[in-house]
Amino acid sequence: MFGFRTVLVGDPNFLKDLFSPSVHSPFLRRIPLLPGFKELGMDKEGLLLNLDIPKWRHNRKFFQQSLSPPSFIELSTLYTRECCEEMMTYWDDVKNTQVVRLDEWYRAFTSDMMGLVAAGSKEDSLKIQYKKTVGNNAKFSFNLESDILDDDLNNLKNLSNGEQYRRLRSDYSDAVAFFVFIPKFIWNLPWFSKKCNYFRQVLLSLSEFEIKFIKERKAMIEEQKYISSTTLSTNDINKNIISPNWSGTKVRSDFLTMLLTMNNDDSNPSPEDIKQNIREMFGAGTGTTTTALCIVTYLLAKHPEVEKRMVKEILSVIGPTKNIGSYDLSKLVYTEGVIYEAMRLYPIAPITFRYTPDVSTQIDGYNFPPNTIFGINLAHIQRNEKYFKDPEIFNPERFLGNWRATLPTFAFSPFGQGMKSCPGKHFAMTETKVILATIYRKYTFKLVKPKDPLHLKFNLVNDITKLEVFLEKRKLELLSRNWMIT
Ligand code: HEM
Repeated sequence: MFGFRTVLVGDPNFLKDLFSPSVHSPFLRRIPLLPGFKELGMDKEGLLLNLDIPKWRHNRKFFQQSLSPPSFIELSTLYTRECCEEMMTYWDDVKNTQVVRLDEWYRAFTSDMMGLVAAGSKEDSLKIQYKKTVGNNAKFSFNLESDILDDDLNNLKNLSNGEQYRRLRSDYSDAVAFFVFIPKFIWNLPWFSKKCNYFRQVLLSLSEFEIKFIKERKAMIEEQKYISSTTLSTNDINKNIISPNWSGTKVRSDFLTMLLTMNNDDSNPSPEDIKQNIREMFGAGTGTTTTALCIVTYLLAKHPEVEKRMVKEILSVIGPTKNIGSYDLSKLVYTEGVIYEAMRLYPIAPITFRYTPDVSTQIDGYNFPPNTIFGINLAHIQRNEKYFKDPEIFNPERFLGNWRATLPTFAFSPFGQGMKSCPGKHFAMTETKVILATIYRKYTFKLVKPKDPLHLKFNLVNDITKLEVFLEKRKLELLSRNWMIT
């Protein structure tokens, strides 16, 4: 791969070194330097492809500390719930005979959600999706800036922050694909050079926009003499703000504020440092969750008995109308089993990579020299009947009880393992559980083409390309204090 010797590892017992949890592990890189990474600024920034290990450690600490605390999980529960309510309000206008692109709705959802969680500026993605789905019959009317068709990057400044960012980010994923997959010698050929220049301009505009936004937030925080730690009170979370510990104006409590206010002795991150972290949070955190949600929906539609059991659990934990809170999440054990089982059968990242230029690696008695890329075949491991009985069968029950004790340590790794595992896993699980719990008690989904396989495209991760469903309102009946699902 990329001109390097590549070894595929498909046995969880060989992963101890590659999945080491040590911050001093030699395997803190995924793949070697490619020219495109430099162009994208990913070789020395962020987490995913950062080859500068001290810098990666520094960034990783920020991700870990801001995405894991209970206050952040509480905040994400609240934001997810709010976005669900908005989405379901729009769904009220959708007829149950209309074909609905659920992949597009979930993509809009995760994008709006991430806008809120990462930078406190909600985008209009759900509104745009509503207009697209319902057309002239729309009950709600919005003046959407997305209606202004203007591809000239110079005119972006006339749009709101949310819309500017939404447009730049959608071009950014094309820029990433261009610089990663098109070899450098092609960039200067006639047709490609125009594209290349455009994408360079996108990267520049995005950076300018992000850095300006980050600097403004930093100034706001400093001006307010914000000195408290990252801990938020429930009251503050409900108001979507961080209360400074002095009386003054308020700053939004989102990932950006947390990154900027983390009290680490050794760090005062610059806007340039933070920029790539926010970008990666969007990049790694929206498509993955969208795909996971679509896979779960697809499998539940194919297995109504599993859906019924999941909805029963949801109703017994939160009832038919109460808002879900973060304290409810650990009680949704079967729902968690459904999500894990969906990720086992269809891992979002079927393969993940480790690479070291520094040391030789011993695996099962074989010696591999430095500069070998190791591809860890998670998809293969998670369908191996040695670890999962009837591996092709969708059976969430296998994730009930003390299932971890029955498996080798690395046999189930939907979020990877070790020092380079997914720092967003708690957030992703929270978001997915809250969405399922909020939506499934009101709606059920019928596949338009039940015989179709899942439409997944492999682009280093699995990405859903289409999921067409009919939306049906669920009917519930209260029978002797139990909710009957009909
Ligand atoms: C269902 C949703 C998600 C899945 C299945 C998933 C899965 C993964 C996997 C398999 C990896 C590679 C781990 C390894 O190599 O050991 C990864 C890395 C990563 N994920 Fe996620 N992820 C999800 C959501 C998120 C979210 C919501 C965020 C951010 C908020 C996020 C941020 C990242 C980042 C930054 C990395 C790179 C970490 C590093 O290289 O140090 N992911 N994810």
